[in-house]
Amino acid sequence: MFDSLTMASADPILGLTEAFRNDPNPNKINLGVGIYVDDTGISPIFSAVRKAEQRILAERKTKAYLPIAGPAEAGAAVQRLVFGADHSIVTEGRARTALTPGGTGGLRVAGDFLHKHAPGAAIWFSKPTWNNHFNVFQAAGLEIKEYPYYDEQSHEARIEAMIEAIGAIPAGDVILLHGCCHNPTGTDPSAQDWDRIGEAIAARGLLPLVDLAYQGFGEGLEEDVRGLHRLCERIPEILVATSYSKNFGLYNDRVGALTVIGQTSEAAEKALSHIKATARANYSNPPAQGGAIVATILGDGALCTEWEEELATVRGRIQQMRRLFVETLKAKGVERDFSFLTRQHGMFSLSGLSREQVTRLRDEKSIYLVGSGRINVAGMTSANMDRLCDAVAEVLG
Ligand code: LMR
Repeated sequence: MFDSLTMASADPILGLTEAFRNDPNPNKINLGVGIYVDDTGISPIFSAVRKAEQRILAERKTKAYLPIAGPAEAGAAVQRLVFGADHSIVTEGRARTALTPGGTGGLRVAGDFLHKHAPGAAIWFSKPTWNNHFNVFQAAGLEIKEYPYYDEQSHEARIEAMIEAIGAIPAGDVILLHGCCHNPTGTDPSAQDWDRIGEAIAARGLLPLVDLAYQGFGEGLEEDVRGLHRLCERIPEILVATSYSKNFGLYNDRVGALTVIGQTSEAAEKALSHIKATARANYSNPPAQGGAIVATILGDGALCTEWEEELATVRGRIQQMRRLFVETLKAKGVERDFSFLTRQHGMFSLSGLSREQVTRLRDEKSIYLVGSGRINVAGMTSANMDRLCDAVAEVLG
């Protein structure tokens, strides 16, 4: 049977990493997959993470299976990070959290859970969205639809069009929202926009699934969940998929979580019981290391402060690269206005480069961007900036 198969097409994001690895050019630049590198071009291990790992290694007594939803302290740490310890959702026990293998694992569990318990509900994505959302929710069997989100001319979010579209979504459907640092556009709703989005969703009786993969990469740990908090003021039931790949740099530990917020603690507990059944059928129970690192750091005042400072450095460097890219292009005589990049947040933006220009950058300059023109700003460094901007200037002609 295997021999009768035709090759599957390479993943538009992770497939690029393979091509990048195979490229012998010593000056190659990877602005494809969303991995943060420091100014020396290394994806660093946070110092708080190293310390937590040493502690975990010294204290670990067993490698027995974790509970299906992961350890209670990890779930509590996730909720404190997303909501703050004093938020009514936490104090009233309206949230339950399952640790998952990465944010992607959390999304897939959500997809399977929704397919079974919200039969017939479609899931609505922003246009555009992360490529892998399509894979995950198609695999879970959900019907996928799209709402307008981004204006390629102004490089701004199309909030009016989005709200109008929400008004026509059938009650009971699921709407996927990016909590912050929208991937791929880097364009987020303002606080007031979130209020209006929340009202529109509540009026239609939709179930939001918030993908929160970049908390702390935008404006700050608290600022980046302001949209989610505003949704929670208006909407009784929400699913939140979080990832710790980026904000703890734990990419290959595969740690994320799925949090369900119910109208009551009992409702959340019922939903969790089904999320656990879904996880059991998927991967049985989550890996331990990543969740232990996150819980150790968030549970220790000094480590937590150290981590927050390191995260602030990461955020600052990304903003600095956004500015430097725009300034360097300008200095090289590029006339096209790229200043929108400095108004956007997180690792990603849509550069506006065409597929053809992206292909030329890859084939002629060994510079890797996603085909849509998405750039990972966090892959830029002060050392590769000049070469990058020369190449972009050249393909822009
Ligand atoms: C990305 O969008 O590049 C990241 O979320 C990594 C991935 O898995 O695609």
